Amino acid sequence: MSETILVLGASGQIGNELTQKLRTVYGNNNVIASDIREGNADMMTSGPFEIIDATDKETILKMVKKYDVTQVYLLAAMLSATAEKFPQKAWDLNMTSLLGVLDLAKEKHIKQVYWPSSIAVFGPTTPKENTPQKTIMEPSTVYGISKLSGEFWCNYYHEKFGVDVRSIRYPGIISWKTKPGGGTTDYAVDIYFKALEEGNYECFLSEKTRLPMMFMDDAVNATIQLMQAKPEDVKVRTAYNLAAIDFTPEEIALEIKKHLPDFKISYKPDFRQEIADSWPSIIDDFEARKDWNWQHKFNLETMTKEILTNLKK
Ligand code: SER
Repeated sequence: MSETILVLGASGQIGNELTQKLRTVYGNNNVIASDIREGNADMMTSGPFEIIDATDKETILKMVKKYDVTQVYLLAAMLSATAEKFPQKAWDLNMTSLLGVLDLAKEKHIKQVYWPSSIAVFGPTTPKENTPQKTIMEPSTVYGISKLSGEFWCNYYHEKFGVDVRSIRYPGIISWKTKPGGGTTDYAVDIYFKALEEGNYECFLSEKTRLPMMFMDDAVNATIQLMQAKPEDVKVRTAYNLAAIDFTPEEIALEIKKHLPDFKISYKPDFRQEIADSWPSIIDDFEARKDWNWQHKFNLETMTKEILTNLKK
């Protein structure tokens, strides 16, 4: 399969690792990384890189023509906690970038679009456990409102204009190569760094806050798997529920203690607690497993081992 891929937001947490994986799958020169800021040395040297503002449709079109791009992965976004502080900016970034890229697909400049949604599309009235694909969706955060609107724009462009856009409702994504920024699930990344660097961690969520989570490798594989699925197998054109693991701060701390027995956690919930409380604890991802054979590999135990081993190096 010959594709030329443009990644918008390649310097971010998911963008960075997704870009590197796409380069191994499609060839370094066929994956153009872009962001408003430069990425790490690996990304900058392993293939083409362009500075692009994801809301600037004209520049994106110029790059699509320059490289003969066939697919765009749009990963630039403002996450939940930051979006609460800058609602208008979050809305502008999250919506303008999506509508611009969807238009490029509608105008047939590109063939396929990937755009991530989030568990933030759910809200306080959504069933918290085994949250189904179709359920009550009344998000109470700016980020959630933007993601839910985005999902319906994707579905609309698919229905009305035949745009091949695909999406996943990511849970909290846990990584060690690149840190996330501005999210509510970020604690589950910070905790590993602090455990090794300082031996203790003050958590901004309370000990019993259960949230859906996933190791980065699983998230990256799911994304590419969904993009490679046959169009007729992609039956959900809003965004797919996707699940792997779920845990509380107390449970992840216990898992870390198995490797670092002196590790201590304390709790000081802040404004992010309310965001977390509005989200589901456990997601039901039956459709993704049925439609395109999604399977996760990492659980809390294997993920913790993998992260601590790599960070120690
Ligand atoms: N990890 C994201 C956040 O916390 C959820 O999509 O904002």
